[in-house]
Amino acid sequence: MINMTLPKKVTIVEVGARDGLQNEPKLIDTQTKIEFINRLSDTGLAVIEATSLVNPAWVPQLADAEEVFRSITRHEDIVYPVLVPNLYGMERAVAMGVKTVAIFTSASEAFNQRNINCSIDESFERFKPAIELARSNDIKVRGYLSCVMGCPYQGKVDVHIVTTLAERLYQLGCYEISLGDTIGIGTPLQAQQLITEVGKQVALEHLAIHFHDTRGQALANILACLQLGVSVVDASVAGLGGCPYASGASGNVATEDLVYMLHGMGISTHIDLEKLLEAGTFICQKLGRENQSKLGRISIQ
Ligand code: HMG
Ligand code: MG
Repeated sequence: MINMTLPKKVTIVEVGARDGLQNEPKLIDTQTKIEFINRLSDTGLAVIEATSLVNPAWVPQLADAEEVFRSITRHEDIVYPVLVPNLYGMERAVAMGVKTVAIFTSASEAFNQRNINCSIDESFERFKPAIELARSNDIKVRGYLSCVMGCPYQGKVDVHIVTTLAERLYQLGCYEISLGDTIGIGTPLQAQQLITEVGKQVALEHLAIHFHDTRGQALANILACLQLGVSVVDASVAGLGGCPYASGASGNVATEDLVYMLHGMGISTHIDLEKLLEAGTFICQKLGRENQSKLGRISIQ
């Protein structure tokens, strides 16, 4: 039965250049990153996460953030968020002329300690001055909440904790909260329960989903959330992605496969699938790795 609440249009937040490249063992050169993002900019994507302003000792893969951001051809109608963990990151963002950032914390204490070296409460303390600086520079702030369906270190994560933290991020000034299944452990009914609970405190139009595909559940989980009215979905071309500090985390849902599913259901994305496939093939060739997108594999056979 076709559920009439499916959105007519979905906004895809492409995270391959950040979530994807941060997790690649092979360091790739700055010029390749620039060309990758420029190719993504020609696909019709509206939001392309460009890089990350974290400590380069923690994520050497994105140590060239400033140069990448400065050198890409930025389109007026595309948003290019960058990941920011603290005030220092926000100062770097201001100096670079970034217009949108994404702060990030976790619904799991154990994961947060490993990922950003502080507790959940401490992360909110760090965000306060960072957000003040963002506000005084007209920088929009998105918020990520990770491990929303389970944690590699502490196991179960209580959906009520997720709800409270999502609301805290919203109250702090995040225009959108992206709920991350960092290790791809959730299944569709759990995803629906998550959206139902969080949606009681944060309106659906301020929620996004960010599902890694570790156990092959991402598309099913996304469809389950679309049926509840979610209309912003993070994805990564060629299924790149993972977090170096989440053991067992593998790629995000592949943008190509997501676009194929959405278009097949009559949901608009404004994305040119052929160009997207070319961008996926390009980056996989540069990385010397297999394309994790099902569609990408078919297209190169
Ligand atoms: P810390 O050690 O607690 O930071 O790290 P600190 O404030 O004590 O500073 C220590 C050193 O870091 C200092 O340098 C600072 O200058 C430097 P030193 O004096 O030793 O030379 N530093 C920085 N350098 C550059 N940029 C900065 C910055 N801040 C401090 N912004 C910190 C805290 C957050 C910095 C560190 O833990 C870190 O960089 N972590 C990176 C974590 C990360 O990037 N993880 C992957 C992204 S999260 C993810 O993938 C999940 C997501 O996709 C959603 C999902 O899948 O669910 C978003
Ligand atoms: Mg992620």
